[in-house]
Amino acid sequence: MEEKITATVKIDGRNICATVPAGMTLLSFLRNELKLTGAKNGCSTGHCGACTVLVNGEAKKSCRLLLRRLPDADIVTIEGLSAADGYPLHPIQAAFLATGAVQCGFCTPGMILATKALLDKKPNPSETEIRSGLQHNLCRCTGYLKIIDAVKLAAHWSMRPSEMKLEMRGGYGRSVVDIDGFAKVRGQLTFADDLYLAGMLYAKVVWSAHPHARVIRIDKAGVEKLAGVVHVLTADDVPGMNGFGPLKQDQPVLCGDTVRFMGDAVALVPAESEAIAARASDLIQVDYEPLPGVFSPGEGLSKDSPRLHPEDNICKYLVHTVGDIEEGFGRSDLVLEGHFSTPFVEHGCLEPEAGTAFWEDDVLTIKAPTQFPFELRGQLAAVLDMPPDKIRIQATPLGGAFGSKADATVEPLIALGAYHSRRPVKLTLTREESLKKSTKRHPYEMDYRVGFDQSGKLLAVDARLVSDAGPYTALSPRVIDQACIFACGPYEVPIKCHIRCSGGQGVQPAGNSGKNSKRAEQQIIR
Ligand code: FES
Repeated sequence: MEEKITATVKIDGRNICATVPAGMTLLSFLRNELKLTGAKNGCSTGHCGACTVLVNGEAKKSCRLLLRRLPDADIVTIEGLSAADGYPLHPIQAAFLATGAVQCGFCTPGMILATKALLDKKPNPSETEIRSGLQHNLCRCTGYLKIIDAVKLAAHWSMRPSEMKLEMRGGYGRSVVDIDGFAKVRGQLTFADDLYLAGMLYAKVVWSAHPHARVIRIDKAGVEKLAGVVHVLTADDVPGMNGFGPLKQDQPVLCGDTVRFMGDAVALVPAESEAIAARASDLIQVDYEPLPGVFSPGEGLSKDSPRLHPEDNICKYLVHTVGDIEEGFGRSDLVLEGHFSTPFVEHGCLEPEAGTAFWEDDVLTIKAPTQFPFELRGQLAAVLDMPPDKIRIQATPLGGAFGSKADATVEPLIALGAYHSRRPVKLTLTREESLKKSTKRHPYEMDYRVGFDQSGKLLAVDARLVSDAGPYTALSPRVIDQACIFACGPYEVPIKCHIRCSGGQGVQPAGNSGKNSKRAEQQIIR
């Protein structure tokens, strides 16, 4: 039985006394108990600053503060930031809108409160002081220059509120305020994790313990009977096709026999609380037979490489030819060659993947920050063996996506949880889970040979591109198409062109969940 404590704090001017678990953080108390969701849950590790609130006037990350350590603290959240006299917004909120310092808005409440703490101490800060004051708050989409502009304008407007002005009307040559902007700066925009529904269950995932392994046995005996655990779902509980993906449905919702990367889900536990779901998922024993992994595109393409899928490891091989490459190099006065690499890149959205699935009469509704709602509906219909018109996808605001939320992550899992429980099911990935599960920007190994004439005119390009795309197809074939299309950059399309691309799938090591391996060759002659 978890120890409880009585917490007494003042939040947004309201004295609050509550009995809560001893380990409860201020962020969890604000969001889960008081439903003050302006403080965002970006990482829960004190790195991103999206959960920043004011504690006794200081900007603090609420995910790192235990409620029991804050007796009688005076806490201000974005919801408690008062507007200027006769104006709908606080000058800082207005300045963030006016300067375009708000894009997805996920970092914005934290940024605004960090700015408030700064301006309360330094009403007219230098740029160095602004940079220092905001150094603990990350923004992935806006870029910091506009945010610095916003802080300067906020300082000005705080001293002269009568000069506050927001341009609300559009038109040529006039910047306009983002239509969601007011909700964003007030912390009122409802992101997926901000949803709380009556009777909602919280799900946790049992992730693969190996980059490549056979699943021998999943021991859930006893766990299903724990108080508060509603189900322990495994591959046998998928009613339709146990596979999803926008182009090829080769990624299991829950892996029954083989895992192919550390972001593979093996079991799902919907429970009455997040803590119960987490405890229960820790108790599920999975026995594996580890298999040799594939950790680079080169390995994935080799003939001796372990097979990840029955056919082969190649995700896509693309050839496009125009002309005769050797003739092009024969006419060249200068031929240069080189090898280039780009790393895989985590998209790093401040909002981790999250979603809630629930029934509205006989329609299963999924609210999640997806960039592909219609494709997602088709995939879920196949997974659940339901008609597509009985599934509704409602895309929630994106707390950053950069393409990564085109791939399904939590959606098949929450849909499965709601399908079986007939109750709302929510799943929010932790930052660590997000890094493990989410698609990465494809890394490339590129070999180029380029021929020029005396004037520097491009005559021939022979390019071979090899890309790592991880264990499942996802959108990788489209990515390799683009790589070949743009392999010669912005230069004039030559008269003759020869392009060949190929790809192989590889297993990602722990912490690297990028997508399938690919190889592309491009040859162009003019
Ligand atoms: Fe800052 Fe999106 S606007 S993270």
